[in-house]
Parts: sequence; C-alpha cells; structure tokens
Amino acid sequence: MQNLDTLLEQALSDLSRTTDPVELEQAKARYLGKGGAITELLKGLGKLDPDARREAGAAINRAKDAVESRLAERREAIQAAILERQLAEEALDVTLPGRGQETGGIHPVTRTLERVQAIFHSIGFSSVSGPEIETDFFNFTALNIPEDHPARAMHDTFYVDAEHLLRTHTSPIQIHYMMENAPPVKIIAPGRVYRVDSDATHSPMFHQLEILWVDEEVNFTHLKGVAADFLQRFFEKEDLKVRFRPSFFPFTEPSAEIDMGCVFCDGDGCRVCSHTGWLEVGGCGMVHPNVFAHVGYDAEKYLGFAFGMGLDRLAMLKYGVNDLRLFFSNDLRFLNQFN
Ligand code: PHE
Repeated sequence: MQNLDTLLEQALSDLSRTTDPVELEQAKARYLGKGGAITELLKGLGKLDPDARREAGAAINRAKDAVESRLAERREAIQAAILERQLAEEALDVTLPGRGQETGGIHPVTRTLERVQAIFHSIGFSSVSGPEIETDFFNFTALNIPEDHPARAMHDTFYVDAEHLLRTHTSPIQIHYMMENAPPVKIIAPGRVYRVDSDATHSPMFHQLEILWVDEEVNFTHLKGVAADFLQRFFEKEDLKVRFRPSFFPFTEPSAEIDMGCVFCDGDGCRVCSHTGWLEVGGCGMVHPNVFAHVGYDAEKYLGFAFGMGLDRLAMLKYGVNDLRLFFSNDLRFLNQFN
C-alpha cells in the first residue's frame, strides 16, 4: 500500500508507451491480469482489519479505475493510428488519368517489306526465302566470287566456322531457288543479312531485298522498267527520276548502280543526297553466265536480271529516318510514331 502511488504512476506510463494492441494487452495483464500487480493488492485486502480494508480497498479501486480508463484511452488511440495508417496506404487518387490500353504497331521495316511485296506481287513476282547461315559456296562461289576474290574481303563476313558464315547478302537465295526450280523464275527474296559494320547508316544485321527474273527474253530494258516502276510506286511519285550508273558485281554482267532523284530536295541538292540530287538505292545487272552454269541453267537459252536493295534504307528514305540504329533499338517513342 505504501507503494500504491508509485505503482499507479508506473502503470499509467507503461500504458502510455504502448503503440500496438499486443503491447497494450501485455501491459494490461501486468497490472490487471490474474497475477497482475493491482489484482495482487486486492487479494491482500482480506488480511486487513475492516477499517483499514475499506480505506485501502477504496484507494486500490481508484487506482484500478485510473488504469482502466487509461487503458481504454490507449486502445482508442492505437485503433485510430492503425486506421490512419491503413487509409494512407490504401489511398486512391481518383483524379489520376486512367492507364488505358495501348495498341501495338507494325515495325517500320516490316511495314516497308509489306509495301514492297504488295507492289512486286501485283506484277507477278512471288516471295521466297533462304537460310541465314550459309556455306561459302552459296554466298560466294556460286555467285561467281571465287576464293581469293577481293569481293570476299569487301563483304566483311561473320564466319561461323571454316565452312559456314552468316550470309552477307540475299543473293544466295537466288542460287537455292534456281537449283530447285527450272526457269522461268520471277521471285523476290527479302531477308536479314549480316556484315561486320556498325554506325549511323550501317548495322551488323540489316535487311536486303533481292529481285530475280529469268526467262528466254528478259533483257536490261525489263530491268530498267521494273526497277523504275517499283521506285515510283513505292515512293508514290510518278515523275521520280531513276538512273543507272555502270558498276561491277561478280554475279552480274553488265552491272549497274541504281540511283533515284533525291526525295527530300526533289533533286535540288541537300544534306541527305550530299548535294548531288541523287540517292543510291541498289545494285543490279544481268545474271552472269557463270552463275547460270553453277545452278545448271542453259546460259545460251536464258537471260535474267537481278537487283538488290537495302530494305532498311528504303524505310529510312520513305519515312525520313536519319539513323538506322533506331529501327533496332526498340524505343517506343520512335516505334509509336508508326502505329
Ligand atoms: N548482292 C549485292 C550486294 O549485296 C546487290 C546486288 C544484287 C547486285 C543483285 C546486283 C544484283 O551488294
């Protein structure tokens, strides 16, 4: 009884320090539980004589009431704090804009390929494909590029092993197709090609498109007509100028480089065309008799033209993209513009 005041003070401050329901229950048990300090005091009252018991009983009960009311106070405060925390955690800002649903788009290179195919299919060409890992024979030898030919070094080839390489152009698809099919041939062959090269206009992997037409009377005029017509339709410019510059490829003879009037400055000269008014878009020529010999075609009976273009380059020129790497970096800010 002498320590009742100290005990009460202790109990009240203990309760005040509790921060969660478990601590609170533990504190309650320490004072008001079965063996709690205040309960023990009440049990001891029986040993006192009646007068002292009444007085002590009243004092202990006052202490007990004080503890109980502090307990109730704490319980309410802790519940309120819990609710507060929960509300903060589950806060929902109904004024935020919705997440929405984004639609995917067709990649600009795929879109370009689809446009190119639609044009060639409309004039009777069909699409074929071939392997990306080639043998030396298909990528070079059959295309009249013998061993030690400087053109092999020009291609900066990725070799897989002594026998195999990543094709450096789509021309080997011609060889596969002609070996398996008798003439006439009227195909386009798009696909990935690989070269050891990397900057704003070169990527180690890029896309080419090969066009091949072989028949008894195919000549250079057909080549010029098909190439010019294709470019005019692809760039949606009927008066687009197209010119052929003499060039060299081992697998064609004669060979030429295809240029078209610059689509950015209309031939006036600008940065894109290096102030020449012309843009180079591909290589072409009449299929070399040695190539026909490799695939078993009679070069006396058949003639053919082939031309090759960079698909990514067509896409860059069509959409005004100035860095090839944008096509392969999967940046949504770039890709979304084509949706
Ligand atoms: N294969 C050649 C290249 O990649 C392009 C080409 C194709 C040239 C067909 C002529 C005929 O450089």
